[in-house]
Amino acid sequence: MDAREMKVKAAQAALQYVEDGMRLGIGTGSTAEEFVRLLAEKVADGLKVEGVPTSERTARLCLELGVPLKSLDELPQLDLTIDGADELDAALTLIKGGGGALLREKIVASASTQMIVIADETKVVETLGRFPLPIEVNPFGLSSTRIAIDRLAERLGLSGELKLRRSSEDVFTTDGGHYILDAFFGRIPDAEALAVQLNSIPGVVEHGLFINIASFAIIAGPAGARTLKAN
Ligand code: 5RP
Repeated sequence: MDAREMKVKAAQAALQYVEDGMRLGIGTGSTAEEFVRLLAEKVADGLKVEGVPTSERTARLCLELGVPLKSLDELPQLDLTIDGADELDAALTLIKGGGGALLREKIVASASTQMIVIADETKVVETLGRFPLPIEVNPFGLSSTRIAIDRLAERLGLSGELKLRRSSEDVFTTDGGHYILDAFFGRIPDAEALAVQLNSIPGVVEHGLFINIASFAIIAGPAGARTLKAN
């Protein structure tokens, strides 16, 4: 089974949790896009759902495929969000934001009664941090914010480059107009301490650590899809 087939397997399994009439948060990334394609088929067959997209990219795909959309202000409370992840551990703490949508993803998932993560088994790790942690920052004061993040990392015994994300020649800009610093820490032994302290830096808009947000994960491997609950 190749990587795409595993994403489809996870997305198919997640689709079983979608019920008629649900208000859905719809994630961003290649795995979430497989979910959107399958969801669109169900909608074409008569399933009634309303979706809130977590990015402009996801919104475009939903509109193209005929998945009905609303804004989060129109639907401020959602039943279920289905989204991918860049890494997840046994406690279901996630690193997200590889696709740059972490802020909207976190707002949408937090407004949902349940969040199901869909991923292939390569995303499950013992200790988070091999995937660089995306930190969304305000462009104003970028250098000062970078210094503040470096200092807090040092206090927590973390080290690694903070790299300003680029898309080809330009600085990558999120849907909210912010920049992303990718933190190459390698290992994040205490995600909670890091999350709390990142949130205390004024120039940090949001970070990609999702703690106690996911309800469970559907992990696809060559043998099929399995459910992963927090330990
Ligand atoms: C986007 C995300 C994605 O969920 C994450 O990057 C996983 O993407 P993919 O399914 O393409 O591996 O957080 O901001």
